[in-house]
Amino acid sequence: MSLFVSVVGARPQFVKLAPLCRAFDALSGPGVHRILHTGQHYDREMSDLFFEELDIPRPDVDLGIGSGPHGRQTASMLEALEAEFDRSGPDVVIVYGDTNSTLAAALAASKMNIPLCHIEAGLRSFDRSMPEEVNRVVADHCADRLYPPTPLALANLENEGLGDRSVQVGDVMLDAVQYNLRLAEEKSDVESRYGLDGRDYGVVTVHRPINTTPEALSTILGSLEAIAGTGLPLLFPMHPRTRAVLPESHPLADSGILIVEPLGHLDMLKAISGARVVITDSGGLQKEAAFVGTPCVTLRETTEWTETVEIGANVLIGTSPAELKAAVRTALETSSANWQDSIRMHYGDGNSARKIVEDLNDWSGW
Ligand code: UD1
Repeated sequence: MSLFVSVVGARPQFVKLAPLCRAFDALSGPGVHRILHTGQHYDREMSDLFFEELDIPRPDVDLGIGSGPHGRQTASMLEALEAEFDRSGPDVVIVYGDTNSTLAAALAASKMNIPLCHIEAGLRSFDRSMPEEVNRVVADHCADRLYPPTPLALANLENEGLGDRSVQVGDVMLDAVQYNLRLAEEKSDVESRYGLDGRDYGVVTVHRPINTTPEALSTILGSLEAIAGTGLPLLFPMHPRTRAVLPESHPLADSGILIVEPLGHLDMLKAISGARVVITDSGGLQKEAAFVGTPCVTLRETTEWTETVEIGANVLIGTSPAELKAAVRTALETSSANWQDSIRMHYGDGNSARKIVEDLNDWSGW
């Protein structure tokens, strides 16, 4: 019997892990799959809440690494992961997405010659100034088995000579959204909690370093105020890094911008599915917005989810928010009917986690 160890550490990875846990439960025996948390995210709203709400088993190990400059954070994880892999002897290490936890686990596994599998492989924004781009390229090239979510991601891997170890089975995020949206409809009261029931509103998230200098954040908030001033309240769940910059940057009383703590995943899904527009610099949220049928305006120059732009669900306006108001106006006139048919073509049928576990069992010879 093989031992598969999933290494996760940051919010978006918990979301991707959940469908894999369900698939391992359904298809493999007990004790086959374990969860190792690096501790990159550690606040309750950024970590524990996700495990509780998404019904993910508690991590078997939490390395408790926490925050720090990227080099030190990655190095601490690498050292701790090597010791942990040495102790527990996984047969296959599974990494997700593109965070520093992904990078550290990919390096640790490949240095120890442990077979490595990368879920959400092959994404490219071609912007090497983002740490996530470097993380995903390194993880892909270390991996022995790659699961690109879309045909374009597979093509990227083929271009880099990695096609023969890649299997395109669709996107585990679509599995997650289909499953969690039903739960969110039942359980989340996010709209009534923030007085948004029956109203048109937008959802905003901003956490990239480039958008969270005091100057950049202040400019973005100015544009958001102008939008909220047109009668479209904006729910802004705030990442701790953004919150740390906020006090000096802008007074917001009565602006129509509702700044709240980071939301759990079910509240976030319910909020974006009820919203008229999502404004974000996140990666995953661009795609979740497309899946739930809400147009997205992205505060970045590039995206690794270029399909969302191609199908008309997302527009990139760069980090200067001068175009934000016009882009939001256009988004408010956009209908998701334009792109719903394209979702299946790019992202599969919502059964990707099952296909991954089936393939992993064959591939690892279990
Ligand atoms: C990380 C990922 C990013 C992902 C994001 C999701 C990398 C390189 N980036 O970015 O791709 O979109 O997670 O949220 O891995 N902090 C807390 N409490 C926490 C976590 C973070 O206060 O629980 C604060 C700390 O001040 C920390 C800062 O947020 O220094 C940044 O956290 P970090 O995990 O390093 O990167 P993220 O910006 O969250």
